[in-house]
Amino acid sequence: MSKLKIAIQKSGRLNEDSLRIIKDCGISIDNGKDQLKAAARNFPLEVFYLRNGDIPQYLRDGVVDVAIIGENVLVEKGEDISFVERLGFSKCKVSLAVPKGQEYKGMEFFDGKKIATSYPNTVKKYLTKRGVNTDIHLINGSVEIAPNIGLADGICDIVSSGSTLFKNNLKEVEVLLTSEAVLAVSSRISDEAQAILNKLQFRIKSVLKGRN
Ligand code: PRP
Ligand code: MG
Repeated sequence: MSKLKIAIQKSGRLNEDSLRIIKDCGISIDNGKDQLKAAARNFPLEVFYLRNGDIPQYLRDGVVDVAIIGENVLVEKGEDISFVERLGFSKCKVSLAVPKGQEYKGMEFFDGKKIATSYPNTVKKYLTKRGVNTDIHLINGSVEIAPNIGLADGICDIVSSGSTLFKNNLKEVEVLLTSEAVLAVSSRISDEAQAILNKLQFRIKSVLKGRN
């Protein structure tokens, strides 16, 4: 019998809530710790634990049928990939920030400046559209440290509670986008997998309804 292959984040902020929504759908997963793949016991579902940034390519290749992923990742790396459901958790913003003491009057501030970020495409697109040219430094984590060590004039990263900005003496100056977890679908999904997805989506919708 065919199964629906779903990707979820291996570790990080989406992982727990993603597993919770699957569980709330009445689906139990045999979760061997450190396993990268697990099967559901009572639903034709196979779970793949993957790195966030790799998920768009897995969807494109049809290696997985669906994924629970942040909209922000789709904006950065998967604009060609569509999603069928907003899941209401992992809400965050992708924002530009500068040192607290820095005078900031508008985004022309960033013209000719250095920005450290894990979201180069998102930043480039946003600023280029507005006629601002910047020098982008790609960093994969701890981005907020960059201005303090003289690596950049500003940063662009995820803002959730705002505590990382606060701790690093930065202030948010532009919100590029708001994001939440979504259910993204591969364009190569088979008819059999699509039929299972319809059942899963039906359950997800009622779980979300119950949460409101
Ligand atoms: C993420 C993100 C921000 C922070 C935002 O980093 O990159 O730095 O969370 O959350 P906050 O507004 O609630 O502070 P994470 O802690 O996941 O680590 P990383 O940047 O090293 O991946
Ligand atoms: Mg961070």
